Amino acid sequence: MKQNEIKKKYLKKIKLIQKYNQFYYDKNKSIITDHEFDFLKREVLELEKKYNYLKNKNSPSKNVGYIPSKNFKKIKHKKPMLSLGNVFNEADLLNFEKKIFNFLSLKKPNEIEYSVEPKIDGISASLFYKNGKFIQGLSRGDGKEGEDITENLKTIKDIPKNIVNKDFPLEIDIRGEVFIQNKDFDEIKDKFANPRNAASGSLRQKDSKSTGKIPLKFIAYTFGYTKELNINSQSEFLKKLKSWGFRVNQFNRLIKGVNNLVANHKDLEMKRNKIDFNIDGIVYKVNNFDLQKRLGFVTNAPRWAIAHKFSANSSISKIMNIEIQVGRTGALTPVAKIKPVNIGGVIVSNATLHNEDEINRKDIRIGDIVIVERAGDVIPHVISVDLKERKRDSKKFIFPINCPSCGSKTIKDYNETTKKQDAIRRCTSEGYECEKISVEKIKHFVSREAFNIDGFGKKIVENFCNLKLVKLPQDIFRLDYEKIKKLEGWGDLSVSNLKHSIDEKKIISLERFIYSLGIRHIGQENAKLLAKHLKSSDNFFKQCQNGQINDLVNIDGIGETQIKSIKKFFSNKTNLEVLDELKKVLKIVNVIQNNKNGLLKNKTFMLTGKLNGISRAEAKSLIEKNSGKIISNVGKKLDYLIIGEKPTTKKVNNAKELNIKIVNQEQWLKLLNKTS
Ligand code: IVH
Repeated sequence: MKQNEIKKKYLKKIKLIQKYNQFYYDKNKSIITDHEFDFLKREVLELEKKYNYLKNKNSPSKNVGYIPSKNFKKIKHKKPMLSLGNVFNEADLLNFEKKIFNFLSLKKPNEIEYSVEPKIDGISASLFYKNGKFIQGLSRGDGKEGEDITENLKTIKDIPKNIVNKDFPLEIDIRGEVFIQNKDFDEIKDKFANPRNAASGSLRQKDSKSTGKIPLKFIAYTFGYTKELNINSQSEFLKKLKSWGFRVNQFNRLIKGVNNLVANHKDLEMKRNKIDFNIDGIVYKVNNFDLQKRLGFVTNAPRWAIAHKFSANSSISKIMNIEIQVGRTGALTPVAKIKPVNIGGVIVSNATLHNEDEINRKDIRIGDIVIVERAGDVIPHVISVDLKERKRDSKKFIFPINCPSCGSKTIKDYNETTKKQDAIRRCTSEGYECEKISVEKIKHFVSREAFNIDGFGKKIVENFCNLKLVKLPQDIFRLDYEKIKKLEGWGDLSVSNLKHSIDEKKIISLERFIYSLGIRHIGQENAKLLAKHLKSSDNFFKQCQNGQINDLVNIDGIGETQIKSIKKFFSNKTNLEVLDELKKVLKIVNVIQNNKNGLLKNKTFMLTGKLNGISRAEAKSLIEKNSGKIISNVGKKLDYLIIGEKPTTKKVNNAKELNIKIVNQEQWLKLLNKTS
């Protein structure tokens, strides 16, 4: 090869590395596998070694990471931007509606009316208007805090800058999706993997003039904070949006009944390819705002809405290798490294094989030709093997019985509830003792839902762990910045940014703190329940450390499995050491109760029997919303026993004996200034 050809090849590879880095650090997205990325880097380094005339300031030999193009100002959303739960089929959808019926204590032939809206696969944004003027636009960010991308959003023609209608609220956050139409994407498709990435990249341009060059669109569908908006339903809101000059989706519908939702889903899925922007499913929202309010939320998503995804795309590929990944909880997950294929616009080179049983059931082997499926944001997986294509000398895949990272024994837990052995094999090491588990635990610790340390992405965690700069979570708060400054790719500015991001997160809520510890079976929802119950970090440490946690079973949602897991976590010496050290550097903020002075302040309640027209779950949430507390046994601490139809006699008698007030549904609702 001629010198200039080699140079060209070399520069092309560096450009690719830069692009992948940019996706990784700016957009939190891996568009190739770690293995492929390392391979590409190695190729560049080898070329440099071979031809000493090859030099470039962006080479991985000079540069470890990537400095994001611009640090946009972070601003808190006045109301969080939530996400949606997913369903993939009719059964899941029926279950979603059943939960709504149960929560609202509704019975057939009642019907729920849904606002049915195509789910655009773009980037959501929240636009703040004051006195009709577009003042500020934020990206979703982590849902609580977004980036100020006002100037870039101003370049979008679909976004009205001034609204003069009399019925436009004094203040409102209009929310919707920024996206790029397929025909416009065609012209820039060499630069981005898909239209969604193109929209995201364009929105985060440093210079809004560059954003203006890419024709972005905006479709509005909901609102956040608002002052003086008087409407009763989503469909009414969508009509208003149109009258105020926003673009709304032409396929929005009002539909009742799951069978009609499914028919509409089928219909739109057929039309999908004819629509000039990508939609990856349909969003169903309970249309009536009163019902939405009653239904409320679970952690990050509303109970009153769901996304019904379109069926997956699939392709055929070859299994080149099967790697065993070790996850945060020690789970050994087999991953098929497949020959890269384009599935629905995304290049896929990894597919999960789930677990050992799945490999055995499908008899998946290295070298097999397989069908790989990819649905929405779900990790691609192997559907089936084409046995006709299998080579005669192919060998059965033997799953390792020792942890590939630390060599410890692996086991399959026995599940007390199902009375079966788990399908997942786990490393028996206790956590930080296994290198791979440890790295995953640190990634979890700094992740968005936990400490949310800006600019501390997965690659950096891996790098710092490799270099032994970080072994345990507390090391993050005592980093040797002088040493980091000397690492390739780091400089004064990037180090000072990192230090700032870390220092900023030394104050943390109890709920996030508990979640960040990565205790098995304690996800976001359970961490929230524990924090709410325990209220202060002192309490958390005291109770858990001394094993006095059996009363946590009284928390709705916390069971034996969670208690066992917490006990196990606190019986580990390294975990205790981590907690001790974290206590020294962090300020853990106690739980502040939202509505402290509601009508049921300082009052405790217990329910027995069936209530009329309201479910248990809604009754409990109503009590809590009004500052009351639910307790689970009749004792001295109980103020009111609420009785419905067929109450438990023993509870009523006990309450009578203890002189506890016994109220029926009507009397209870009167306490809330409500009548049934
Ligand atoms: S409503 C609580 N409506 O889907 C309501 N979202 O997974 C949350 N999206 O972040 C949003 N089309 O980016 C809503 N018609 C639509 C939507 C939509 C697309 C996106 C949005 C959101 C994500 C939720």
